Amino acid sequence: MEAGQYHPRADIRMEARMRLRRCAAAWLEPREVAAFQLDDLMAGGTGVVSRLAWFAHAPHLSAAVEVQASQVPVLGAVGPLDWVERADLDARFGADAVDALLHAALLLPQPDGEDASADARFRAQGWHPASAVAHIATRWEGVDGPKGMAEQDLDSNEGLLRKHGAPPPHAMPSADPQADVLLPRVDRDAFDGLLDTRATCRNYDTEAAVPLATFSQLMARVFGARGIGHPAPGFDVYKRTSPSGGSLHPTDCFLIVQRVDGIAPGLYRYRIDTHALEPVAPLVAPPQPGDAGTEPLGDAAPRAWNSDELRAFARIAVAGQDFFADAPVLCVLAPRFRRNFWKYRNHAKAYRVCVLDAGHLSQTLQLCATQAGLGPFVTGAINEVDLERAFGMAACEQSPLAVCGFGKRAATLVTSEFDPNRRLWPRE
Ligand SMILES: Cc1cc2nc3c(=O)[nH]c(=O)nc-3n(C[C@H](O)[C@H](O)[C@H](O)COP(=O)(O)O)c2cc1C
Repeated sequence: MEAGQYHPRADIRMEARMRLRRCAAAWLEPREVAAFQLDDLMAGGTGVVSRLAWFAHAPHLSAAVEVQASQVPVLGAVGPLDWVERADLDARFGADAVDALLHAALLLPQPDGEDASADARFRAQGWHPASAVAHIATRWEGVDGPKGMAEQDLDSNEGLLRKHGAPPPHAMPSADPQADVLLPRVDRDAFDGLLDTRATCRNYDTEAAVPLATFSQLMARVFGARGIGHPAPGFDVYKRTSPSGGSLHPTDCFLIVQRVDGIAPGLYRYRIDTHALEPVAPLVAPPQPGDAGTEPLGDAAPRAWNSDELRAFARIAVAGQDFFADAPVLCVLAPRFRRNFWKYRNHAKAYRVCVLDAGHLSQTLQLCATQAGLGPFVTGAINEVDLERAFGMAACEQSPLAVCGFGKRAATLVTSEFDPNRRLWPRE
């Protein structure tokens, strides 16, 4: 049962002997909420009026929900394990407070049969609560990044310096330089050449397609299986070119394929077991150029998107960063959390390891793409909620951590790249 599908108040009260408990994880945030009020502006104020409110972060819900101060003590009085009689809570806190928390799905009614609620699905994952709250609360939906940054005058280094002063130094000075152990300089070899030509690409050739063989080789090198191990009966692990905590490799690669020779543009999931692309029918309405976010599909049947719709979705994926949306291939790195949490259940480091795993895959992709003569990128500025909606992920089960991609660099530099030694963009 999802949030919002709980019985209306009258039905709940009819069940006099109803038992309930608190959801698995609920963290309370006292938040200052600002709102525009015309009255205030007309009265000579700024028009921005703020108030303090309580928000409950419950990771089985997709977003934090506001609760009244009078409801907060109820959450502190009901545990997440044992079912308690509703009548006792009504007597202590009032039926209105209990109703409101049931409607918000922060309190949950004891199910008659199997518990199929979002809370039950969350419990089955094995999340550490603080990690779950952090992950769910920091996802974006419909964020149009560069535009927002420009409005705050933070899109330029000058703007940042004006607002925050100088940053911490690029290198910490030594406490005692005489004691430093100088390391020998070793002659460069071809591998240094490869490493030195990796640079984040922000200028893609919007006509060029990636040859199928190059694409397939990159998938095999970065996300493919290089071997298989059998630590125990019923427990198999793949070997990849990147390391993974517990060797579990929870990270799936979902793809937005715009231009690969011989592959129909669309959404896909890379299958590590067969080295194949599984087509994914998009579960959002076809996005239009310039859209900041997605709309649910509603009753419409999913259909393949044309190239403009696919490009619009790529732009939403990378939060409005057009220079990345131009890439012919975008890889959405999304762990299936339970694959890792199966071993590291309720573990303080487990989510961090998932994030680090994704970073390793991205770096392998950066180097393999560079070796293939292509420009790579990675970004954490992504609209996770829109990606989850389109690919059909439940956030607490599987969710994107980063988007990376690759393709042929354009002939001309339009958006800046960091190439201080002019290895990619020779001086004219
Ligand atoms: C985790 C991560 C997130 C990043 N996110 C963005 C981003 O949102 N937008 C962007 O233009 N570059 C992004 N970058 C690229 C960095 O800006 C880039 O690595 C940095 O400027 C250094 O340039 P180089 O990669 O060419 O060495 C990201 C890099 C990393 C590792």
